[in-house]
Amino acid sequence: MADIILGIESSCDDTSAAVIRDGFLLSNVIASQQVHKDFGGVVPELASRAHEANIVPVVSQALTKAGVAPGDLTAIAFTRGPGLLGSLLVGTSFAKALGVALDKPIIMVNHLQGHILANFIKQEGAENRQPAFPYLCLLVSGGNSQIVRVDSPLQFEILGQTIDDAVGEAFDKCSKMMGLGYPGGPVIDRLAKLGDPERFHFAKPHIPGLDYSFSGVKTSLLYFVRDEMAKDPDFMEKNKEDICASFQKTLIDILMDKLIKAAKQTGIREITIGGGVSANSGLRARIEDEGRRRRWNTYLPEFKFTTDNAAMIAIAGYFHYLAGERTPLDVAPVSRMSDF
Ligand code: KG4
Repeated sequence: MADIILGIESSCDDTSAAVIRDGFLLSNVIASQQVHKDFGGVVPELASRAHEANIVPVVSQALTKAGVAPGDLTAIAFTRGPGLLGSLLVGTSFAKALGVALDKPIIMVNHLQGHILANFIKQEGAENRQPAFPYLCLLVSGGNSQIVRVDSPLQFEILGQTIDDAVGEAFDKCSKMMGLGYPGGPVIDRLAKLGDPERFHFAKPHIPGLDYSFSGVKTSLLYFVRDEMAKDPDFMEKNKEDICASFQKTLIDILMDKLIKAAKQTGIREITIGGGVSANSGLRARIEDEGRRRRWNTYLPEFKFTTDNAAMIAIAGYFHYLAGERTPLDVAPVSRMSDF
């Protein structure tokens, strides 16, 4: 009998449901919330309400698209955390209710593990290249910047992580301060393609080991723009492409320096990336470029699997299911990774 897993993701501002059969993706529906646009960031209370409104239609659509009846499901996987607590409660409570109603097991998934395993989502007619264990995953999103060593689908170790802002936060906050819009990553990525990455230079951190820091480079950019604007109010408008290209290059340099160090220290040459920032075209090109030079095998997830999606939750849930894990109904969502 086939194992059919429904995945539910509601950790931040995307409500998503996906169905996989024996690791193959049948559907992946994402409702991205538009209510936050005017606020320049995600408003937790509004996110929870939007999840509440979206969850039933999103799950129904995912099942319909997959051609799967609720009774055919083997198990229901859901994001337990980390993320916004109110948002997580919607997905978690829905998964529990559905599990009880259908008499099917529920399986909790760590959101970060979903990102780490995104390369294992198989698709009909696709190449479905998968990294060999152990591999390193550069996990970069709005909430995380980490280098993770992955020894098996369920065994992983964080080798280094940010001590302050996440890299996605640096993109978002700087874009907001420069008046370029939200979320900042895609905007800066687009403008960076038109600019000269060598024109401006921003402070790089000196953090020991494999940890990251992004608050210094963020401050360096903001002071620079403020000082130049005091001299010429049109400075930003005239130079935004070069500023974005130089800023993006600095962030990528910081990410790559530690990833290269981690690969050297561990001797691991299987390299993946994940999380929203892994959609960045400059970062993707750099990983492939360094990979060719350093003889790494690199695996870049498809764009639709870089940002929050339930397909990655379903595949992680599938691995947990195969390992015999089932989650009791009194499980509560957790906002922080350390509480998992
Ligand atoms: O994984 P994700 O969807 O969820 C959170 O962790 O919140 O990541 C969202 C982050 C945001 O900071 C966004 O600016 C960033 O991913 N992002 C990008 C790009 N697309 C999304 N950053 C850089 N370049 C992009 N093309």
